[in-house]
Amino acid sequence: RFVAVLSGGLSHEREVSVRSGRRLSAALRSAGLTVAEWDADGGLLPRLREERPDAVVVALHGGEGENGSIQSVLEMLGVPFVGTDPRACRRAWDKPTAKAELDRVGLATPDWVALPHSTFRELGAQAVLDALVERLGLPLMLKPDQGGSALGAQVVRDATELPAAMVGCLAYADTVLAERFVEGVEVAVAVVEGPDGPRALPAVEIVPESGIYDYDARYTAGLTTYHAPARLNEGTATAVGELAVAAHRLLGLRDVSRTDAIVAPDGRVYFLEVNVSPGLTETSLLPMAVEAAGHSLGQVYAGLVERAVS
Ligand code: DAL
Ligand code: MG
Repeated sequence: RFVAVLSGGLSHEREVSVRSGRRLSAALRSAGLTVAEWDADGGLLPRLREERPDAVVVALHGGEGENGSIQSVLEMLGVPFVGTDPRACRRAWDKPTAKAELDRVGLATPDWVALPHSTFRELGAQAVLDALVERLGLPLMLKPDQGGSALGAQVVRDATELPAAMVGCLAYADTVLAERFVEGVEVAVAVVEGPDGPRALPAVEIVPESGIYDYDARYTAGLTTYHAPARLNEGTATAVGELAVAAHRLLGLRDVSRTDAIVAPDGRVYFLEVNVSPGLTETSLLPMAVEAAGHSLGQVYAGLVERAVS
């Protein structure tokens, strides 16, 4: 098989994607595939037409790699690809949309408000912030409504921190997702599809040294301790796996995804978000889950390539 791995791109997560692409390419080569590593730049279209890979694996993160844009191009050219179709990518990529879908079927997700930039102008910034704290309380988690790798995301424990945190978010997106901050154990659950449908891999527990799983804690080795599988009792481990599979199915995702969730001290599991292009770097979560399941990254993605071409 001849596979093109797309990485790089123009999003804020470019550097992460370059690292994911490099690792994935090496893994696929060791599984016996022929791999070309392509940067998703303006040369992509002619390259796809001329070189006609059997399949493409999108290792892009953020922006066009996860919002369905690249997937639309691949669909239009008739190039088989691993991963979710453009429409479902768009749904999953927009955090408030994904949360609303899960909430609608009774799955728990922290209470939230989505605040478009225009709201601040129309109603006055202080009035908006006051209403937000009134509605959700403190602490709050603020995130760009679309984004990844915790860029622009901040925990706000005191109302005086809100204006700066809002500005930090709005640097990355036009809408801020404000969520009630749920204290608990942060876990990530990868889902991979096989002949029996989507299956959850062992949950990975995330323990950042600083207490906050920010960009540095994600991508600097040693700043976060990971437990794979997560130190959960059997019932909770099953519940987080079921949540991840439910999110994958409900949002119509394909092949692979990773759901991030919080297990509260009372054992309740809260959905945070789902990723259609999970990070594959040396410190990323999905590769740890694959290893904990006793598989190799190359085997898993080679299997997904076979699904894509068949
Ligand atoms: N957005 C990063 C790549 C992740 O979810 O792993
Ligand atoms: Mg994410």
